Formats: sequence, structure tokens, C-alpha cells
Amino acid sequence: MNIYETDKLRDEYLLFHFGAPSQILPWPRGPQEALEFPTRIVERFSSGEVGRALDLGCAVGRSAFEMSRTAAEVVAIDYSQVFVDAGKAMQGAGCCEVSRLEEGRRRETIVVEAPAGARPERIAFEQGDAMNLRAELGSFDRVLAANLLCRLPEPARLLGRLPELVIPGGELILTTPCTWLEEFTPQDGWPQGATLPWLKGELEAHFELLEEHDEPFLIRETARKFQWTVSLLTKWRRR
Ligand SMILES: C[S@@+](CC[C@H](N)C(=O)[O-])C[C@H]1O[C@@H](n2cnc3c(N)ncnc32)[C@H](O)[C@@H]1O
Repeated sequence: MNIYETDKLRDEYLLFHFGAPSQILPWPRGPQEALEFPTRIVERFSSGEVGRALDLGCAVGRSAFEMSRTAAEVVAIDYSQVFVDAGKAMQGAGCCEVSRLEEGRRRETIVVEAPAGARPERIAFEQGDAMNLRAELGSFDRVLAANLLCRLPEPARLLGRLPELVIPGGELILTTPCTWLEEFTPQDGWPQGATLPWLKGELEAHFELLEEHDEPFLIRETARKFQWTVSLLTKWRRR
């Protein structure tokens, strides 16, 4: 079963991407700095307006909304039809009901809202496979693949396609929590050592590494249980 096709994960991701801080984390001593991950990572692209941007593994689409502020066209692709449909619903209505699990069988219906100032009409959501992207997808000024690599059966196939997807001088941001798991990626597709030197080995012929740092994120499971995870962010410029 693909967990990303479930209503449970759809609602967790709608809250993760579009929930207000108070809707996600009611605890004043909680890790506030881990909130707003899908926005923070897009802010790492260089400033300025661009033509085309791509959000690969976009889930329910918050980073695509953020990219639409400065890109004339955003293509947002995810393998999960449930997630793509949720992104389209946010795009159409500007808000969405989320069934938020509090504990046990206790749920609360809340409304999450699209961010003000984004340009959702610029986004084209589509279902697709990041390892088998359609040939006519074209190339982009900015490509984001957030927390996707370690969810792919063959991450090296996406890395091999990236030089074609990013125009010379264009930017690529990859984030990965390096949570390599056999349920997603057979072990022979994992990095042999640490993830960063593996990424350098795969990408440096075509991309210059501009920066690397750590970005925490927080996914709420219940009112009292959260996933706090730290992603490795790398930013690259196409040679
Ligand atoms: C851990 S989530 C990250 C989502 C989002 N980028 C974020 O940072 O919150 C992984 C996402 O990758 C998607 N995904 C998994 N395999 C994929 C594939 N082969 N092609 C495209 N998307 C895929 C999942 O459906 C899910 O939305």
C-alpha cells in the first residue's frame, strides 16, 4: 500500500504544509523553529523573478504555492493522486477542511488556508513519477525536490535526469532527511557512505554546490505526538 494515497497522510500533510503554527503546535515549549519548512526551503533560492519552476514530490503543494510568488509558471508533480487532488483543491478554493487527529478516535475538523500573496493560478499540478518524468517536460530555472530522494526506489535515476531539467545557471534545491528505508528504496540504491558525498559524486560534473545546511521540520501526528526530523539541504547551480 502507498501510504501517500491515504486520507490520514493527506490530512497530516495538509496540516504540515498549510496549517497555521497554532493549529500544528499548541505547546509553547515545542520546537517552533521546525515550523514553516515548505516555505523556508523555497526562500533558499536566489531572489528575483524567473520563468519556469518545478516542484518534484510536491505532496499537497505548499512549496509550489511559495514558488509561484516569483515564477511565471510552476509545475508541481507528485506520484500520489490523493495529494495532487488535495493540492488542486487548495488551488481552487483557497482553503481546505482537515480532519485533525487529537488522540484515539477524537478528531477535530479545522480549516487550513492558502498563503496570502501566492499566485496559485500559475501552478499546474500533475500526477507523475519523478523517476520517469515525461519527455516533453522541458527545463526549468528552479527545481526543488524536497524530502523525495529517500522515498524513491531508484533515486539515482532522478539525479541522472536533473542536468536536463535545470537550465545552465539555473538552481536546484534538494532536501533529504536521509531516512533510507528498504520499504521505499532497495539497499543497493542507498548511498554507499553518507548522503552528502554521494550527492556530490552524482551531481558535481553538472552542478556547482552553492550551500549545504540543516533544516528541521515538524509533522503533527496527534496533539501530543510529533515527528521532528532534520533534513540536509543542498543548493546547486547548473554549470
Ligand atoms: C516525504 S514526502 C515530501 C513531500 C514534500 N516535498 C515535503 O517536503 O513536504 C515525499 C513525497 O514524494 C512523493 N513521491 C514518492 N514517490 C514519488 C515518485 N516516484 N515520483 C513523484 N513523487 C513521489 C510522495 O507521494 C510524497 O508526496
